[in-house]
Amino acid sequence: MKQNGHVQLIGNSTVITELKAELERVARSDAKVLITGESGVGKEVVARAINVASPRASEAFVPVNCAGIPETLLESELFGHVKGSFTGAYRDKPGKLEMADNGTIFLDEIGEMTLRMQGLFLRFLETGEIQKVGAERMSVATNVRVIAATNRNLRDLIAQGQFREDLFYRLNVIHLVVPPLRQRREDIPALVEFFLRRFAGPDSTVGANGHAGNGANGSGNGHGGPNGYRYTVRAISPAAITALSEYPWPGNVRELENVIERLVVTGRREVIEVDDLGPEIRKPSSIGGRPRKERRRTIADELFKKLVDDRESFWTSVYPMYMNREITRSNVRDLVHKGLEEARGNYRIVLRLFNMETRDYKRFLNFLRKHDCQLPFKEYRQ
Ligand SMILES: Nc1ncnc2c1ncn2[C@@H]1O[C@H](COP(=O)(O)OP(=O)(O)O)[C@@H](O)[C@H]1O
Ligand SMILES: [Mg+2]
Repeated sequence: MKQNGHVQLIGNSTVITELKAELERVARSDAKVLITGESGVGKEVVARAINVASPRASEAFVPVNCAGIPETLLESELFGHVKGSFTGAYRDKPGKLEMADNGTIFLDEIGEMTLRMQGLFLRFLETGEIQKVGAERMSVATNVRVIAATNRNLRDLIAQGQFREDLFYRLNVIHLVVPPLRQRREDIPALVEFFLRRFAGPDSTVGANGHAGNGANGSGNGHGGPNGYRYTVRAISPAAITALSEYPWPGNVRELENVIERLVVTGRREVIEVDDLGPEIRKPSSIGGRPRKERRRTIADELFKKLVDDRESFWTSVYPMYMNREITRSNVRDLVHKGLEEARGNYRIVLRLFNMETRDYKRFLNFLRKHDCQLPFKEYRQ
C-alpha cells in the first residue's frame, strides 16, 4: 500500500522535469485534471503528487478504480448506499465522493465507466448532488477536487459512442500526459536505483551512501544477508543498467518495478549482472548498440512512429490502410520486422507496442499469417 503524503516521482528526463513543474502549478488550483498515459507509467503517482503539493494535502485522498467492478458496485462505492438497499447492505455506507469532500477524489481508469455511470457522475459534477443507492433524499458534496486517469484514448471512445463528450470536456480542464518509459530512457537508472533501495535496503547500489531514516526495508526484516538485510543483492552492475535502459518496457515503470523486485528476491549474488536478467531484457547487441545512422525514413518507419510514439492502434491505423491498399504487404512486413526487433522476438510485446489489447493476440497473428506478414520470431531472439 502506498502511504499518503509520501510520494516520489522519480526521474530527471526533460518530460518528467516539466511534468513536475506543471503539477506544482496545477496543485495550487482546484481545477479538474485528466491524466493519460499507458498502463504502468505512473499516472497514480502523478495524481498523488498533485494532492501532496496542494492545499488539500492534509485532507483525504480517495482513490477509486472504475475498472473491473460491476456498475452497481461502483455506484454504491462512489455514491454510497442506505441500509437495506440491496442484499448485503446491512448499514448505511457513505460513498467515496462524500468521503472526498474538502479533499481529492482520484478516479482511475475512468474510460471503463459505463455510460450510465458517466451520466450519474456528470450530474454530480454539475450539481454536487449525491444520490445514495436506495436513498430518497439527495445529499451534497460541493468541495471535491477531481483527478481522473485513463490509459484509453477518450477521443476514440467518444467516436465509438462509449464515452460522453460532455463529460470529457468537463474532466479535461488540465490534461497531463505521462509518456511511456521507452520515450524517457534517461529515467531508467534513477528508477532502478530507487526500486533497488526499496527492495534491497537503503544502502544498496553502487555509489549510494546509506540514507538513514528509511527503516521500512531495513535490518528489522533481517536474517540472511551480510548487512542484516533479508536479501543478498546489494547492487547492480553498470552493464545490467545499460541492458535495462535499452529494453522497451511495454509494461512501463510497473514492469520495471516488478523486475527489480524479482531480481532482489531471487538473486544469489551481491551484484546483479546482465546474465541475471531475463532473456527478453538481456539485449541482443544489435538493438541498443545499433548505430543510428542517418538514413531515409521509410514508410515502415512512419507506420512504426504512428503506433509506438503517437500510440495509435494497429487496428485503427495500419490495418485499414493495408485493406484499402494505401500501403503494401512489404510495408507491413517491414513494420512487423521493426516491432520484432524492438520486442526481441516477442509477439506479445509487439501486440502491446502496437497498442492492441491482450485478447487481440490471436486475431493479430491470424491477420499476419493470412497476409503472409508473419516473420519467424526466433531470428530476433538471442
Ligand atoms: N516516476 C515514478 N517514480 C517512482 N515510482 C513510480 C514512478 N512511476 C511509476 N512508479 C511506480 O510504478 C507503479 C505503477 O505506477 P502507477 O502510478 O500505478 O501507474 P498507472 O496508474 O499509470 O498504471 C507503482 O508502483 C508506482 O509507485
Ligand atoms: Mg493505475
